[in-house]
Amino acid sequence: MQEQKVNVDPWGKALVQDYTRLMKEFGMKEISSYPNESLQFRRGVNFAEQGMQDVINAINEKKNFYCLTGIMPSNTQIHLGTATVIENVKYFQEMGAKTYVLIADVESQATRNVSIEEGKKRAMEFHIPAYIALGLDIKKTNFYFQSENKEVSNLAAICSQKITENEFRAIYGSLHPSKVMSAFTQMGDILHPQLQERMPGVIPVGIDQAPHIRMVRDVARRLGDYKFFLPGAVFNKYTSSLDGSFKMSKNESVGKLDIPEKNEIDLEKKLKKAFTGGRATKEEQQKLGGQPEICIAFEYCKFHFIKDDKKLDEMYQNCKNGKTLCGECKQKYLIDGAKEFYKDFDKKFENARKNIGKVKFIE
Ligand code: TRP
Repeated sequence: MQEQKVNVDPWGKALVQDYTRLMKEFGMKEISSYPNESLQFRRGVNFAEQGMQDVINAINEKKNFYCLTGIMPSNTQIHLGTATVIENVKYFQEMGAKTYVLIADVESQATRNVSIEEGKKRAMEFHIPAYIALGLDIKKTNFYFQSENKEVSNLAAICSQKITENEFRAIYGSLHPSKVMSAFTQMGDILHPQLQERMPGVIPVGIDQAPHIRMVRDVARRLGDYKFFLPGAVFNKYTSSLDGSFKMSKNESVGKLDIPEKNEIDLEKKLKKAFTGGRATKEEQQKLGGQPEICIAFEYCKFHFIKDDKKLDEMYQNCKNGKTLCGECKQKYLIDGAKEFYKDFDKKFENARKNIGKVKFIE
């Protein structure tokens, strides 16, 4: 049998069927145990990490470390998977990390043809208040735009001296100028907090960003004089499409949920179509029980909508023992859970928008 190709392209349609092979290929390991373990780690939303020992030590010894992530303003909304990244940032922020969230406007200009002005507008009107609504502390988060951070672009130029053409092609599969531009800018992002203070850092990202992490660690090692700590990363899984047909990255737009969703009726319609682990007939399901392991409704509840472990366990058990059938289960857990999630988001979003003047920006 032919080996399955592990295809990870930060700008393409990434498809991962085999997380174990991917982890081996990229030198990742399973998520370690963390103090006050976050829900995402415990439930396996984050399935792998790389180079996290320095950060773990810093947390335990109450030393300085940072957490940084970036998001492209490619749309006027965000994907549900982005909420996971923000949850990760929130966790490390609560553990004491100096927190940086950047708007990747240079990257979305280069790779998505979204102008710098448009990117900024989207960020101010939607993305930044959305990240605050999802739980970031407005007083403790340092935001910036790639296009406005000189340290980042200077560091990008320095990083560009440390990689050969062949290495770049081997990691990214291309030498397209817009990818080269974006990749080096991202390296500048990831390392720049250490210009002020050398400290361990964690970069929470979707698995599609694995090539950037690999590259920046190599580059940091080669910038010996700078004495950078090699940045670590925690990786989260793609959210499945609602029909269960594929795992997607942020770049794909079919069969998925966004934040926000237009209205409850559309939301409910979409969720009603979610793939479940139900059996062929009612009788069979009552006898054998359902299959939460392959159920997308369960996955969405576990990853996003049901934060209460007891409630999630109840959903699981009632499925397993055939007590609750799929239609009822969807209504009770998935649809109600999602409505609650979105209602809560909308409320916090409005509030965050009113407070946009209090957001801290790095100049
Ligand atoms: N490339 C990321 C994306 O596709 C955005 C990004 C830019 C980023 N710089 C970063 C992510 C630094 C993590 C760290 O959305």
